[in-house]
Amino acid sequence: MTIHDLETPALLVDLDIMERNLARVAGYAREHGLRLRPHTKTHKTPELGRRQVALGAAGLAVAKVGEAEVMLESGTPDLLVAYPVCGASKLRRLGEVARRTRVTVAVDSLEVARPLSASAQEARVEIGVLAEADVGLARVGVRPGAELDALIDGLRALPALRWEGVTFYPGHIKKMDGQGLETLEQVARLVGDALDHLHSTRRAPAIVSGGSTPTLFHSHRVRGVTEIRPGTYIFNDRNTVSTGACTWDDCAAALLCTVVSSAVAGQMILDGGSKTFFSDRLSCDDDGCYGRVVEAPEARFFKMNEEHGYVALSEAAGRFGVGDRVRVIPNHICVAVNLHERMYGIRGESVEVVWEVKGRGKLQ
Ligand SMILES: Cc1ncc(COP(=O)(O)O)c(C=O)c1O
Repeated sequence: MTIHDLETPALLVDLDIMERNLARVAGYAREHGLRLRPHTKTHKTPELGRRQVALGAAGLAVAKVGEAEVMLESGTPDLLVAYPVCGASKLRRLGEVARRTRVTVAVDSLEVARPLSASAQEARVEIGVLAEADVGLARVGVRPGAELDALIDGLRALPALRWEGVTFYPGHIKKMDGQGLETLEQVARLVGDALDHLHSTRRAPAIVSGGSTPTLFHSHRVRGVTEIRPGTYIFNDRNTVSTGACTWDDCAAALLCTVVSSAVAGQMILDGGSKTFFSDRLSCDDDGCYGRVVEAPEARFFKMNEEHGYVALSEAAGRFGVGDRVRVIPNHICVAVNLHERMYGIRGESVEVVWEVKGRGKLQ
């Protein structure tokens, strides 16, 4: 099968690029003695989790229990649920997952940890916990210092939980320019000071889990970090390019779309809109566009309806007619993948593998 046989819109993954991305990050982690626990929210596909583990990842990360259930199929020896798990039935399901692989949960309150402990006791499993600290994103996580101390002490006292260390997510750092590097320095100081304090107060964490795709190759600058959890790096997207963390040549995933109308002068309509791409704008340097047309980089993908993508061609060199096909690199690949039933792994024009996106829609 070749890409010409595929119906569109189709989510393509260039295997050469993906494999290079995976190998580069595995090599970086090895070189700096960092444990790699890739976040699978980007690909949501057990087979790709399996590849990450085969390349040396110590485990995998997910956000939701439903994703954890799906990711068991990857055979991972270790799963981090990097999200507070709340609610009795989710905790019961997590207990089942913990019977099948080693599970750790990131928590930022004892309100979340106490029911987790109770349900682990009931299920007769032990569940690891990481105390989540906020280092600037102001999303989840307690402040380093007295709040983090109290959380750790509380976690250590709860039965059936295994306190493993601390976690943070530097998601407020988007662009690795001068300002981004400065913010990373601040994060490094905050984490370094917090760790000095934890060591001197007999709360030394075994695991210090951090990392994101924009800050990926700077992770070793944050003293004390033992593990990184990048997700987007496997495919990359327009956001990753705009942060400076990769180039267009590192973008492995694209939506293959067909031109279905060129009735309006200077414009083409693609057979994919917000139900194909999702509507996220760029997280930094927003230019009002929803993707990069590989065959016409100067074209402006300026508007979407659910099933229509509007592309202005006035600045583009090429001309396109009905039936032509183009590839579009989306702004945010993680949310785009979640919209698709399958991904097509390609080498050149040949379709080498088809993956079912088993974790798509697993929001619970
Ligand atoms: C807690 C957590 N860890 C890791 C990641 C991975 O970050 P990135 O996609 O920048 O690699 C995310 C992304 O949302 C996250 O929320």
